[in-house]
Amino acid sequence: MSEQYSPGLAGVIAGKSTIGLVNGTDGILLYRGYPVEELAEHCTFEEVAHLLLVGHLPTQAELTAFDAELKARRVLPAGLIEILRNLPTTTHPMAALQVGTAALSGFFPALDAGDKKGNWEGTLRLTASLPTIVAAFHRIRQGKPVVAPDTSLGLAADFLSMLNGEKPDAKSSRLFDVCLVLHAEHGFNASTFTGRVVGSSLADIFASMAAAVGSLSGPLHGGANEEVLTQLNTISSAAEAPAWLDHMIETKQKIMGLGHRVYKVKDPRADILQRMASDLFSSHGSTPLYDIAHAIEDHAKVKLGPKGIWPNVDFYSGLVYQKLGLTVDLFTPIFAIARIAGWSAHWLEQMQDNRIFRPDCIYSGPHGVKVTPLDERG
Ligand code: COA
Repeated sequence: MSEQYSPGLAGVIAGKSTIGLVNGTDGILLYRGYPVEELAEHCTFEEVAHLLLVGHLPTQAELTAFDAELKARRVLPAGLIEILRNLPTTTHPMAALQVGTAALSGFFPALDAGDKKGNWEGTLRLTASLPTIVAAFHRIRQGKPVVAPDTSLGLAADFLSMLNGEKPDAKSSRLFDVCLVLHAEHGFNASTFTGRVVGSSLADIFASMAAAVGSLSGPLHGGANEEVLTQLNTISSAAEAPAWLDHMIETKQKIMGLGHRVYKVKDPRADILQRMASDLFSSHGSTPLYDIAHAIEDHAKVKLGPKGIWPNVDFYSGLVYQKLGLTVDLFTPIFAIARIAGWSAHWLEQMQDNRIFRPDCIYSGPHGVKVTPLDERG
């Protein structure tokens, strides 16, 4: 058994899927066969969500209908807003999102994981509601009134509008829309796998997706984009970046936003985000952090590239979000409002051919230990 053990399940085949392909050797990411670059250039998040959830890019009529279904579900039940109001304002927005996601099951009667119609309803409800939950909690913690959804806007623009209380400009909306497209799906990563594992016990979709949100919150997964900015902020200038990187490597510390379990070349999403960041900074003014990030990437190419450690999606996303005026602790919740499409698609796929996940472990503890009476234990 020991020779089969793979820490972190690296290289272990844990399922079959037709949803996303991540080719880490050639830097290719496909959603249902479409390269992510194609989708980022030509599609909205709603089109991509339809692709992931239904299996094909929508026709205009299908998109109109799908969009209307989502728009009808953007408003949160008043009781859910009340739950968010009762959280301490210091709650991390990912924790608030996890609470809100799980709480949806109380408002929309517990779904039977075998009920196709109910599962579709849950999928729509989650895709439509997560942006509203994140925006509502952000307003509440700032002591500001919650902004109602505006159904004249697409999902990405409406999220920015609910967050900031004003309609975003067209460029920011499209940029943010592309960010959602880039984060919508990524194969059997930790949070997607978590959602599938929880779903495999036939827990309902809200319980499964709340668990996926929890999984995404960690700094080795979705939480990395937050950590990238924290690290960049400790470096005073681009000139200092190479020495900082050398020190991090020598002291065996992780550089956030670099490295990936699957990609051994530059993450294709990081390439797109870097181009977007560069475009945004040339039109809206640059930030020293972008120059520092660039300097780190250049030096890391030489120092870490040969080990297969390259920028991942989180390396540049935070810089783009910051330029869009989003606070650092919203970065991971934004990842979640995009990834809910991929998570839900995987959950639906799991339900089609389910077997409960039950791996094994190598037990290395003691055997046959006798119980010492309570009053004799030292
Ligand atoms: N900075 C410095 N060294 C890194 C590194 C990084 N970001 N990522 C990996 N390495 C090194 C490790 O120190 C280790 O070196 P060693 O063999 O000398 O001990 C080796 O590369 C393997 O790393 P490991 O953490 O075991 O790889 P993994 O496949 O388990 O982990 C990540 C992948 C993503 C968790 C890891 O690269 C990481 O922690 N990156 C930073 C966090 C991040 O950006 N996460 C977002 C992912 S999208």
